[in-house]
Amino acid sequence: MTRAEILDWLKTEDENRLEELWQAADEARRQNVGEEVHLRGLLEISNLCRRKCWYCGLREDNFAVERYRMNQEEIMACVHQAVAFGYGTVVMQSGEDLGIKGGWMAGLIRRIKQETPLAVTLSLGERDLKDLAAWREAGADRYLLRFETSNRTLYDRIHPPLSGQRSDRIGQLRHLKELGFEIGSGVMIGIPGQSYEDLASDIEMFRSLDLDMIGVGPYILHPDTTLGRFAKAFYASPGEQVPNTEAMTYKVMALARLVCPQANIPSTTALATMNLEKGRELGLMRGGNIVMPNLTPQKYRAMYEIYPAKACIDETADQCRSCMAGRIHSIGRVVGSGRGDAPNRARAV
Ligand code: 5AD
Ligand code: FES
Repeated sequence: MTRAEILDWLKTEDENRLEELWQAADEARRQNVGEEVHLRGLLEISNLCRRKCWYCGLREDNFAVERYRMNQEEIMACVHQAVAFGYGTVVMQSGEDLGIKGGWMAGLIRRIKQETPLAVTLSLGERDLKDLAAWREAGADRYLLRFETSNRTLYDRIHPPLSGQRSDRIGQLRHLKELGFEIGSGVMIGIPGQSYEDLASDIEMFRSLDLDMIGVGPYILHPDTTLGRFAKAFYASPGEQVPNTEAMTYKVMALARLVCPQANIPSTTALATMNLEKGRELGLMRGGNIVMPNLTPQKYRAMYEIYPAKACIDETADQCRSCMAGRIHSIGRVVGSGRGDAPNRARAV
């Protein structure tokens, strides 16, 4: 697909034409990754963060957030629950929390690998190469790190560097790939200041990074953040600013499926937050093949408030599991078995 075609799809509002896009994406999904929807149990292991991202509710200087870090026993109890639920993967996610030490995490990964057949996905932010290598060595399979936007100026604005050290998520993704991780990345859709040209470049970047997983969701305004307070000052000119809508999210998911047909693409919680009733299903019908039911213990869920009114805050792990299975069946798809490795990189265990 050419850049002009990508831009054209992003800008069209013609429902009849969009129907063609949805169908093309659904067909590409069926041919390349099949009818199975894989479940990844999401465990939010810490909400501490050293960053001050302009969009995120977990930013270090949001003092309204009560902070937590789960201990190894709490995490292992949830991991065993993931196995009992039939999940193939546990995703451990956190803020950029250097209190999660490299050695401690490596020990935890080894323990999960010894005690369970689960694939282990990490989503712990930007970390030293040394830590990443140790985690891979310990058996971690995949790493998720969204590059958020391919527009460097916009990225630097909303993602302030740490003590003069420029953040390089694209560089880290390349290192992760060299280390043998399956890599996942993605962007937020409708960040104030994000133009259609930017979003087209994001989609081209999915292709050039050869991503195994592509996670995209709408930007949702959080009132206790810089962007939440001053969003209006940063919008791109009218006609150029990408709206942070549900419809735009489906377009990006569908285009991601068409440019990276073999990738795993989740139907995200941010999308479900925008449309509680049908967001997950529509995401799965327009390119998606993955869902990430929440495994985080009830007492921590509300504290992991990246954005407000997040879906699944009040549900238990068991409720999320039944809810997801119901939604998958309701659209005539099947719950995946096994680890659900990316088809272009599938390895023997
Ligand atoms: N709205 C939507 N998504 C957000 N994220 C962070 N803050 C927000 C927000 N306000 C996304 C980022 C991050 C992922 C874990 O959550 O893309 O990488
Ligand atoms: Fe959590 Fe539906 S997946 S309530």
